[in-house]
Amino acid sequence: MTSKLALIYKALDEESKTVLWHIEAALKKYEYVPVGYIARKTRLPPKRLEAVLSFLNSKKLIRRRIGHEVGYTLTFLGLDMLALDSLVKRGVIEALGNKIGVGKESDIYEALSPSGERIALKLHRIGRTSFRKTLRTRPYIFERQTTSWLEESKLSAQREFTALKELTKYTKYVPSPHAYNRHAVVTSFIEGIELYRVRKLTNPQEALEKIIEVIKIAYNKIGIIHGDLSEYNIIISYPTEDPLIIDWPQYFYKEHPQAQDILRRDIHYVVRYFNKRFNLKVNSDEVFRKVVTG
Ligand SMILES: Nc1ncnc2c1ncn2[C@@H]1O[C@H](COP(=O)(O)OP(=O)(O)OP(=O)(O)O)[C@@H](O)[C@H]1O
Ligand SMILES: [Mg+2]
Repeated sequence: MTSKLALIYKALDEESKTVLWHIEAALKKYEYVPVGYIARKTRLPPKRLEAVLSFLNSKKLIRRRIGHEVGYTLTFLGLDMLALDSLVKRGVIEALGNKIGVGKESDIYEALSPSGERIALKLHRIGRTSFRKTLRTRPYIFERQTTSWLEESKLSAQREFTALKELTKYTKYVPSPHAYNRHAVVTSFIEGIELYRVRKLTNPQEALEKIIEVIKIAYNKIGIIHGDLSEYNIIISYPTEDPLIIDWPQYFYKEHPQAQDILRRDIHYVVRYFNKRFNLKVNSDEVFRKVVTG
């Protein structure tokens, strides 16, 4: 355990976790949970509670607001701790490793399962980039007008986990989902390189066909479209050179009014990239027709 996240997690005692847990639960009612409310729920003696709150605040797991009554809200880091604790106690995660990726809307850590398998922990962070950008890939947020980024991140994790659960019934070219909790999704760890960094492939045609197979399955068996497909969301795994499509939370249903355009765009991006980088001559419109006709 080396990352900052792991160090903070190790420093938490059960009382601190209980306080975090009650603050999270009360966020349904309050934006900032009054100290009096936390005291009633946790039943900690005032001095003890004060110490715990000031510790959590100093570690930036909670944020204080001083109004007519002092209140606290949970930060992403606080939510990380709750998710991590749950996944550790459920026996999904044994040890947390380094941060391996910072996406626009997530942080990715490598970790170990109790059986020693390498796994990936994706902590969703919706709202980190600008609201406008978020709306571009997630129009459903606008439709529901929710304001809590923590809640949106939980929803995003749930969406990603559900999509992966469905996809793995039909294909091995997506990471296999192990578990999710709150805004965290645990999947298999892919030993490989993102497609945009790959210079050479033994059989690029075959790799592209495998990607198209996933697009087809997603569309025809599950009824979804990835929606953000590109060389950045495909990892070429080694030594097999199988392409694995990652990053699914923003998927669209095929009934969506723009579904056809989004599907066409996804296919276009990937095909164009393979044609350019690996000198293929695949026709993107033809692929599109093949996908929609099953
Ligand atoms: N299962 C995995 N195994 C290994 N590495 C992974 C895995 N999942 C993600 N990564 C790494 O983390 C990076 C970000 O992952 P992902 O695309 O899922 O997050 P994101 O926040 O949605 O990214 P962005 O919004 O920038 O596209 C990937 O480019 C990859 O390098
Ligand atoms: Mg990505």
